[in-house]
Amino acid sequence: MSLQSTVIAPSILSANFAKLGEEVDNVLKAGADWVHFDVMDNHYVPNLTIGPLVCEALRKHGVTAPIDVHLMVDPVDRIVPDFAKAGASTISFHPEASLHVHRTIQLIKSHGCGAGLVLNPATPIEVLDWVLEDLDLVLLMSVNPGFGGQSFIPSALDKLRRVRERIDNSGRAIRLEIDGGVKADNIAEIAAAGADTFVAGSAIFNAPGADQHGYGDIVRRMKDAVAAVRA
Ligand code: DX5
Ligand code: ZN
Repeated sequence: MSLQSTVIAPSILSANFAKLGEEVDNVLKAGADWVHFDVMDNHYVPNLTIGPLVCEALRKHGVTAPIDVHLMVDPVDRIVPDFAKAGASTISFHPEASLHVHRTIQLIKSHGCGAGLVLNPATPIEVLDWVLEDLDLVLLMSVNPGFGGQSFIPSALDKLRRVRERIDNSGRAIRLEIDGGVKADNIAEIAAAGADTFVAGSAIFNAPGADQHGYGDIVRRMKDAVAAVRA
């Protein structure tokens, strides 16, 4: 495996939106690496969340860490330039939501952002066949998109192993990200299956004791578990 550095990307979907800037500051101070930003449109998925204005507000608040935008919207292309302007670092989208997947990838890159493709639990990995080398990351969903707090779907482990092999064969520095149901007690097997970038929402923001002691313990437990697998 030609793995990249470990990235813990808390999904702010489970943060307290009434004090979002503070929540993001705290989780980054606790050792998290990226901010995972879930965009839902009540169309591609049945939930409605946050858009470019909130991304821009986090940048204006002083957040300098990478903002990892996960678009669960249809159509995709219209909103890409807005997120680039709002300070997104990477923009990932679902192939089912774009009529022209290759074009959307180029569009994201032309705006100076990293491009990611997101595979739902039932999406075949063959969708990567002609675009993998153009991507900066592949995001595998280990739940169906739309809500935080769901359980990890075990078939994602086998899918991780297969996509890991493809990335390794490509010889490129493409991140392999996992999203959905990632916890301190299953992150080791997820890392062993080949993920290097870990989204966790409820496990971090709803961690027992975090309201009193902050997010340091849970982020450390996750990083230690991954490091033990990689050692
Ligand atoms: C689901 C989102 C996830 C979600 C993860 O559609 O893409 O990022 O917030 O939440 P947990 O970690 O609670 O499963
Ligand atoms: Zn997500």
